[in-house]
Amino acid sequence: MAQQRDFDPREFRGAIGAFPTGVTVITTRDGDGARVGITANSFNSVSLDPPMVLFGLARSARSLSAFNQAEHWAVHILSAGQEALSNRFAKSGVDKFAGVEIEEGIAGLPLLAGCSARMQCRTAFRYEGGDHIIFVGEVLALDRSEATPLVFHAGKYALATRKSASLSLSQAATGEAGFDENFLGYLLARAHFQFYERVRENVVRHSLDDVEYFVLSVLSVQDGRDLARINAHFAYTGQAATPELLAGLCRRGLLRGGDGALHYLTPEGRQLTLELIAGAKALEAEVLGKLGEWDAASLRNLVKQLVLHTNLGHPHPWDEAAAA
Ligand SMILES: Cc1cc2nc3c(=O)[nH]c(=O)nc-3n(C[C@H](O)[C@H](O)[C@H](O)COP(=O)(O)O)c2cc1C
Repeated sequence: MAQQRDFDPREFRGAIGAFPTGVTVITTRDGDGARVGITANSFNSVSLDPPMVLFGLARSARSLSAFNQAEHWAVHILSAGQEALSNRFAKSGVDKFAGVEIEEGIAGLPLLAGCSARMQCRTAFRYEGGDHIIFVGEVLALDRSEATPLVFHAGKYALATRKSASLSLSQAATGEAGFDENFLGYLLARAHFQFYERVRENVVRHSLDDVEYFVLSVLSVQDGRDLARINAHFAYTGQAATPELLAGLCRRGLLRGGDGALHYLTPEGRQLTLELIAGAKALEAEVLGKLGEWDAASLRNLVKQLVLHTNLGHPHPWDEAAAA
């Protein structure tokens, strides 16, 4: 007789959720040729030679009979931007493929685009696994991209971030009154100013100061703003443009005033701003290249959350541009 368990199903789910996984969508065709697919994070590798993988499918899944009969199925390792696709294929009783871009693979397997990796498999074995059936497949074909994978952890979607061996960020805070190397304000300021130091070299070369650069950048996103609206977009820096500064940019032929004190970039102003932005983007590419695409996606995700959580009500230049 089975030994008495001292945990309930909820605790079991919680413990399993402590194991981070990727997210896959597994597709096949049923006996009538209709496309079938499910979201599964029970995917795992089994053997390298021959190449074999597995996934577990709940006996209660509608797609069970299709997978039971299928000779082939395709595994899609989802990329970070495919959360919506994961949710779509986790629903039962809907047309999961409606409006989804599909290619055809081996034996007409429906293949999804934009994934981190795809494997087309032939069913090798099926095992009983309690309330799930375990499908083992031999991998017949695969392709992959550099797209950052989607992660599932503790019941939520997440992103994979590599740990840095060279930074001692896990050190416990000293608990003393002074700042230490883990103080977020220090880390953010240091990263920002070091990055901006190099952007500024370009700005200074064109005889512009920081505020003039901010004005040109704001107008490059959405032209035709007055002084107050221009300033609203970089008020978080503690800096502000003055009417004299705008007049100076007009005299240099970079801006022109319009009706109701609205300001516009001249063709020369737009050209110069695009050059400055191209320089900043080249620097961004250089820095992110050192992190790699996956960490870059994680970094953007975390910094965006910080921007959100620290915002005292400042607008984003892109919001107004989208509304215009
Ligand atoms: C992140 C995530 C992972 C999942 N992993 C599995 C899994 O490994 N096996 C499974 O049977 N269902 C899994 N599911 C649930 C199925 O995707 C879901 O039950 C689906 O509706 C089954 O589709 P069907 O009823 O059309 O067959 C998962 C759902 C999510 C959101």
